[in-house]
Formats: sequence, structure tokens, C-alpha cells
Amino acid sequence: MKSGSAARGFFGSQLGVVLASAGSAVGLGNIWRFPTEVGKGGGAAFILIYFGFILLFSMPIMISEFVIGRSARSNAIGAFQKLAPGKPWVAAGIMGVLAGFHVLSYYSVVAGWTLYYTVQSAIGQLGGQSSTDFAAVFNAFVSHPWQPVVYLALFLLLTHFVVSRGIERGIERYSKLMMPLLFMIIVLLVCFSLMMPGAADGIRFLLKPDLNEVTPDVILGAMGQAFFSLSVGIGCLVTYASYFSNETRLVGSAMSVCAIDTLVAVLSGFIIFPTVFSVGISPDAGPGLVFITLPNVFALSFSEMPVAGYIFSLLFYVLLLLAALTSSISMHEICTAFISEHFNKGRRTAAAIVTIICLMLGCFCSLSFGPWKDVTILGRGFFDLFDYTVTKFLMPLGGLLITLFVGWWLDRELVERQLTNDGSISIRAMKPLLFLIRWVAPVGILLIFLNELFPLFMKS
Ligand code: PFF
Repeated sequence: MKSGSAARGFFGSQLGVVLASAGSAVGLGNIWRFPTEVGKGGGAAFILIYFGFILLFSMPIMISEFVIGRSARSNAIGAFQKLAPGKPWVAAGIMGVLAGFHVLSYYSVVAGWTLYYTVQSAIGQLGGQSSTDFAAVFNAFVSHPWQPVVYLALFLLLTHFVVSRGIERGIERYSKLMMPLLFMIIVLLVCFSLMMPGAADGIRFLLKPDLNEVTPDVILGAMGQAFFSLSVGIGCLVTYASYFSNETRLVGSAMSVCAIDTLVAVLSGFIIFPTVFSVGISPDAGPGLVFITLPNVFALSFSEMPVAGYIFSLLFYVLLLLAALTSSISMHEICTAFISEHFNKGRRTAAAIVTIICLMLGCFCSLSFGPWKDVTILGRGFFDLFDYTVTKFLMPLGGLLITLFVGWWLDRELVERQLTNDGSISIRAMKPLLFLIRWVAPVGILLIFLNELFPLFMKS
């Protein structure tokens, strides 16, 4: 197989590196999935466990992906071929690229819903309805045969536009534009939300751990979330790191990305739970939380102040859309980089191929909420099947292989040279870091994985 023939791009600055990688991490996973999991997992206790997994698993995997990507300077598959020619490690790269196609396809379906809700709130359609209306509107939309597909296609086109412009002029430039905007919106929404009457109950839910709520399922949910939220395990960050400069500090960048992602997840909790508690709605509403519960909350809490309600809901969906876009471009890039380098195609052609394939796969996922509801494989509709395969199978297995590869197979000197930028910076916690990569992360992931394969092993 040939790799690396197309001209490669670079991130032009350290800020670009951190914002693009944080852009990949901060996404629907933080603002949609995290609060849903916190709601189901009992609040603060879930958050504490989640922090632990970020530190023990996600950060070491992220650093390992950075080491692989920058030392090989190739796409997710090419990187393993370069560093371990002729060895089966390439399977980790192949799984990553396959996962990239899968995850982008179903993620874009939810991102398409977000685009629809952004448009609906912009044209003032989200006010003045009852909670049953909101549920009915959501269900009618997602099960419609073609409307969600149109929004899915529009969202994929937005992603395509950014990726096809390249690394510095596309991904870096738009991340630098979108991420600060995203932060400003979050801070505004947190302020809004904390001012709501009864917000204190929501804050208590987020800050006061109730350890009785901790079950093995909550622990596993927190692990899955820590993988998904930091985009680790499928070579996304291998691909991004292949565009880092030799001066980029790998450990420092990974720590910044983890800190930003965790901050955004917690702040999203501070937006959603005070709001939800202030109108007395249960926090464990599940995935419908941001599309059914929240519009309902917006309508109820701002019935006296329609303008404030309009601004709050519009800002919220714009935030969700920006977050989805900065993540979807990173998933798209895993696949585009591979097709461009492996098949020696120009970036635009490669990006077009990825967009078309994901649109087709995305249609399957979208239709599984409507006309193809009854079409199942292994008892799951397409959307569920894709989500399950990626988060419960490909991501943990990828994370396991990546840490084993860096911890046990790659030359120790090469790893240390990457971490210290050829000895020009010192890493004080080198030993504990290598211990996390070699032992803690792989053993922990193996446990999650065994639990998925043999659910009886750890059941609530
Ligand atoms: N981290 C993203 C989120 O939290 O929404 C999702 C994601 C992005 C997963 C990129 C995987 C990936 F490669």
C-alpha cells in the first residue's frame, strides 16, 4: 500500500493545534450526550467518575495518538504502516478509518436535527407550544421520510466545505473562528441559566455527589463518555497530530484539550440542569433532553419574556451546531486524509468521496427513525447499530491497541523524543505517564471491553 504521496498540510500555530483538537473533542458529546448521561447517572457522582476516566484513560490515549501521528506524519492507516511495516498493527488504523465513516454518518443525523432546530428557533417556531406538542413535533420530524435527510445533507455539505479547504485555510481557520464564538455563547447561556428562579436545585444536582447512585452501569457509561467526548481511539487525533509542527508540545496540548473539553461539558451541565430544574422537569429525560425537554423549558420559562426566550433558544442551538461542526470536520478528516494519501487523490476529490459515502450511510441511519424503523440487524436499527459499534466496540478496541502500540511496541527512545520534542523540553511526570500508557489504560479498557462481550461479568 502506498501512503503519503499527496502534499501534506500543517497547523500554522500552537493556538491552532489546541483549538482544532479541542474543536474535535467539544461537540454533541459535551452538550447533548454528557448532560443526558449525567441526568441518567445521578449527577455529581457520575461527573466525579468521569473526571477519573479522562485522567486515567482518555488523556494517555490522546497523548499516544499524538506520538503516533507526529512521528509518522501520515493518515491513520499509513501511520501504522510506516511505524510497523508489514505488522498486523495496521488493523488499528483500518478500524479507525472505518469508524470515522460510521461515526460521521450517524453523528451528522443528530447534527442535521440541530440544524433544523436552529432554523426553527431563528424563525420563531419554538415558542408557544405545550410539552406534548414538542414531543410530537420532534417525533414527526425525525420520522419524516425526507426532511431529516435534507438537513443531514446540508450539514454534511457544511462539513465538506471546511475540510475541502485544507488544514490551515480550512480546519485551523474555522476552528479559530468557531471555538471563541462557542465559548462566548456558553458563558452567556450559563449566566442566563443561573439567573432562573429555582436554579439552585440544578446546581445542587451537579455539585453534590450521591454515591448511592453509582452502579456498574453508571461507571461504564462514564467510561464510554470519556472516550467519545475526547474523540480518542479511532485515529482522529493521529490524523490531526500528523499536521502538528515539531515544536508542538504534545503533553501540554493534550492537557489543554482535556481541560477545555471537560470545562465545556461541565458548563453545559450548568446551562441545562438549572434550567430544567427551574421548571420542575425530571433531569433524566434521555436523548430527547435537548430536542424535547429544552424547547419546552424555553417556552415555559420565557412565556412572559418572549424576546429573551427567543435569544436563549437561538443561542443554544447555534452553540450546538458550532460544536457539532468542529467535531464533524475532524471525523471527515480521518477519512479524507486516508483517501487522499492512499489513493493519491487531490483533497477536494477525496473530500467529495467521503461526503458522498457518509451521505448514503447517513440516509440509512436517518431512515431508521422513520420508514425503516422495522429494519434491524442484530436487533438494532441502523442508527443504533452504528452508535453501538463505534462507542462500544471500535473506540475501546482502538484505544487498547493504540496504548499497547505506544506503550509496548514502539521504541521507547522514539516515544520519549516525541514527548520531549527531541529533548528540548522536560516532562517531569514522564514515568507516571508511561505507566498510564503501558498499564492503567490498556487494563482498564480491557475490562470495559470484556464487559461488553460478556455482560454478566459486571452487571448492575
Ligand atoms: N468528541 C466528539 C463529541 O464529543 O461530540 C465526537 C467525536 C469526534 C468522536 C471525533 C470521534 C471523533 F473521531
